[in-house]
Amino acid sequence: MKAILVKQPGGPEQLMLGEYEQPLPGPSELLVKVHATALNRADTLQRQGKYPPPKGASPLLGLEIAGVVEEAGINCRHFKKGDKVFGLLPGGGYAEYAVIDEAMAMPVPDNLTMEEAAAIPEVFLTAYQALVWLGKLQPGERVLIHAGASGVGTAAIQLALALKAEVLVTASEKKIGACLELGAHKAINYKEVPFEDEVLAYTNSEGVDVIVDFIAGPYFKQNLECLRLDGRLVILASLGGGKVEEVDLRQILTKHLHIMGSTLRSRSRDYQIKLTHDLREFALPLFRLGQLSPVIDTVYDWEEVAKAHRYMETNQNIGKIVLRVNS
Ligand SMILES: NC(=O)c1ccc[n+]([C@@H]2O[C@H](COP(=O)([O-])OP(=O)(O)OC[C@H]3O[C@@H](n4cnc5c(N)ncnc54)[C@H](OP(=O)(O)O)[C@@H]3O)[C@@H](O)[C@H]2O)c1
Repeated sequence: MKAILVKQPGGPEQLMLGEYEQPLPGPSELLVKVHATALNRADTLQRQGKYPPPKGASPLLGLEIAGVVEEAGINCRHFKKGDKVFGLLPGGGYAEYAVIDEAMAMPVPDNLTMEEAAAIPEVFLTAYQALVWLGKLQPGERVLIHAGASGVGTAAIQLALALKAEVLVTASEKKIGACLELGAHKAINYKEVPFEDEVLAYTNSEGVDVIVDFIAGPYFKQNLECLRLDGRLVILASLGGGKVEEVDLRQILTKHLHIMGSTLRSRSRDYQIKLTHDLREFALPLFRLGQLSPVIDTVYDWEEVAKAHRYMETNQNIGKIVLRVNS
């Protein structure tokens, strides 16, 4: 089959369309003819040799797909040849064919294109996990979502609104409008003003209940300042670095704070299946109604994969970058 290969660890120029062995579905797996896949930061790190795939996963890039079932394993009960499915993979999405655990596959809603469906799994599962499972966000609570216009951020804004929370975000100037259009109540240009001052001013010094953070080190101190009593901080990435200096940890005690972190890819199969199940129950009806929708910045043909990676690495995208897989 055709697949995107990494010639050797390095820059986007190392990506090339080539040939790779077609995967075989196990008894509980579906072989899917991939119509679309989407980019994640993990792909850019894996391309550079900095993020090896988990044990047993395909060495090919690609954490999510949408496509049509070509073959269903002998134990599969829910999907059959010809069904349109989408879902999260441990790897192998940048390919003409991919295998997915049947329990991780979701049916593509009729109102969504394959490109739209491929833009959902990683960011909506991550955002759901952060807001609901870890952050325990409740109706009427306030959440601060950093990098609000990122793929995960745009999913988190929509899910938090669906959960009836008040949503504050940080983003760079050109992306503020997109966050407000998605329904964020307050969007802060973090490059212009200290975000903690704006959060405290907007909330009458009360602070927020939950923070979803991708920046880590440089935001840790300010995040603690923004959290109110019983606040929850969920750290999903360290885009700003992993080191923290001069933080007064006593706030964690006095405000009864919870500090959590997670990477979805390293979670067990059972965890990912349960998360997929919960997202599917909560979100698929809302996708069907158009109350949730993936935010797509650009769709590239997969021959342009190097261009797509370069674009992601310039931090310009609002929402997802999708690859159309042409066979
Ligand atoms: N833990 C998990 O399970 C999990 C799952 C999926 C993704 N992630 C991680 O979550 C992060 C977001 O993923 P994504 O695919 O949504 O990313 P994305 O769409 O590429 O967006 C990332 C955005 O973060 C902002 N940013 C980057 N560096 C920054 C910095 N140093 N300080 C402040 N803002 C910065 C930029 O937006 P502005 O222009 O607004 O600054 C950038 O466009 C990535 O690091 C990814 O690896 C984690």
